Amino acid sequence: MTITTCIFDAYGTLFDVSAAARQAAQEDDHATISESWPQLAEHWRQKQLQYSWLRAVTGAHCDFWQITQEGLDWALEKTGHAGNPALRERLLQLYWELEAYREVPDMLKSLKSSGLNTAILSNGSPAMLRGAVQSAGIGGALDALLSVETVGVFKPDARVYDLVAAEFNCTKSEVLFVSSNGWDAAAASGYGFETAWVNRAGDPVDRLPWTPTHIVNDLTDIPKLAGI
Ligand code: LAC
Repeated sequence: MTITTCIFDAYGTLFDVSAAARQAAQEDDHATISESWPQLAEHWRQKQLQYSWLRAVTGAHCDFWQITQEGLDWALEKTGHAGNPALRERLLQLYWELEAYREVPDMLKSLKSSGLNTAILSNGSPAMLRGAVQSAGIGGALDALLSVETVGVFKPDARVYDLVAAEFNCTKSEVLFVSSNGWDAAAASGYGFETAWVNRAGDPVDRLPWTPTHIVNDLTDIPKLAGI
């Protein structure tokens, strides 16, 4: 089936989620995390995702900004920085202006110039997504920012993936869904999308009932996978 629509996860896929801790660690005011920032970033990300899954299965939805803060609070306590409100504030501020990965602008431009639909489909709240896209300067190459807030449940609930066909009036098999989260790419395969897992870290494939259609090291080859 010809791909007409390329859909991207946001955090970790287009935007580098460890950039917030990495950048704060380089600032004189936050030298306290100059060595521990990779652990802090990893704990923050893992807790944020765990909270998203737990809230989805229990029906206790809140927005992604809340679990981003709650995940950070856990991570700060775990790494011995619970009593540092200035660090907390700085990390949260930086989360609104995460760097996009280097290849993102050219990759998106290539998809758009070939006439494909492009969008983000993310757990992020609409305001968070607008902030990230604006600070990365990639809004012009995206047709839509689709947020789970429309359906009030986090990925990988199928109602989230349903937002794509509702937006673009396309079939599932016309969609290439791209995510750096192995579980997200796998679940989207199970849903019926063609998928690409962006496996920058060389992680093992998740042991789930579904597997990604493609596995890539970064986003450079996405236009090729989309048939360009
Ligand atoms: C997102 C998270 C899962 O952007 O990375 O949806």
